[in-house]
Amino acid sequence: MQTIRVNLGKRSYDIVAGNGIIKFLGTHLKRLNIGNDAYVITNPLIKNKFGSLLSLSLQDSGFSVKFKTVPDTEKSKSIETAFSLIKDISRYDKKRRIFIIALGGGVIGDLSGFIASAYKRGIPYIQIPTTLLAQVDSSIGGKTAVDLPEAKNLVGAFYQPRLVFSDIELLKSLSARQVRSGLAEVIKYAIIKDAKLFYYLEKNLNSILLLKPKPLTRIIQCCSKIKAKVVGEDEREEKGIRTILNFGHTVGHAIEAASGYKSYNHGEAIALGMLVAADLSEALKLIDRCTVNRIEKLIKYAGLPIEIKKITLRKIISAHYRDKKFIGSRNRFVLITGIGKTKITENVPLGLIQTAIKRRIH
Ligand code: GLY
Repeated sequence: MQTIRVNLGKRSYDIVAGNGIIKFLGTHLKRLNIGNDAYVITNPLIKNKFGSLLSLSLQDSGFSVKFKTVPDTEKSKSIETAFSLIKDISRYDKKRRIFIIALGGGVIGDLSGFIASAYKRGIPYIQIPTTLLAQVDSSIGGKTAVDLPEAKNLVGAFYQPRLVFSDIELLKSLSARQVRSGLAEVIKYAIIKDAKLFYYLEKNLNSILLLKPKPLTRIIQCCSKIKAKVVGEDEREEKGIRTILNFGHTVGHAIEAASGYKSYNHGEAIALGMLVAADLSEALKLIDRCTVNRIEKLIKYAGLPIEIKKITLRKIISAHYRDKKFIGSRNRFVLITGIGKTKITENVPLGLIQTAIKRRIH
């Protein structure tokens, strides 16, 4: 078990990551003194799989536990679901000291964090991520949100959890596609910050895909450290430091949106976005073709797409211009000058962006 601190003054918290650690959750929570009554937001499948394990650990430490399930779909990240859960919490709240547990992937984490930020102007919450993507990325950092029909993540707040508890045991029943999707974010961390991690992935990807505990724990701890450091330096994305986490996301989000959030999941779209960003970096002479090829090889080896299928350039470009990462009408890309080194570049000519995207369309 390893503890990684996210240093944010009064809002600091630990990420505890390891294998088979859920039984120690109650003990960890007791030390935090955040309440007695756990309101667990999850989905039916996860409740079935891990609900009793979680209850046992919490009840052993004297906590009461109430589960609330929402469907396992992005649609649960809505104002309507948040409102209905807040009403349920307020009915349950009488004479209790409630805190929220987000038990699930990114949707559950973002929704629960948003509810925790809004109810009574903020109550404590903790994250127990159950997907690789959530363990390495979305459970850490305090960006919480729900979607509007107009765009994803449009209503939200920066609101940090009090603990992130990442047990790799909870990843065992993920589908291969979900594992690959999480790996896209792992690869992102390596490309933007850690050449050694990139090399480690090149050598150990097979065992990671097989969910071997040792390499899996290592990459989760490694990525958690990178995210903790970046968030600690730029909590609210005001200093341009946190922006590097958006590597591959500008075009990635556009591909996700242009596909109607259907043909590509988040990780797959980000993999394609990272390739476009790498191609753009080469076009601007920041890296050579060898580096792009290395990235492409790793992404392919991880079973992620390297070609965009069944989406037109026009659709991607128009979704790209709707992305909220634009400042006014200027575009902003996280590009790379090598593995582990980024360069934020504004006003990349549209022609170059189009060529880079076109190159990936087949
Ligand atoms: N909740 C994800 C983040 O803050 O980056």
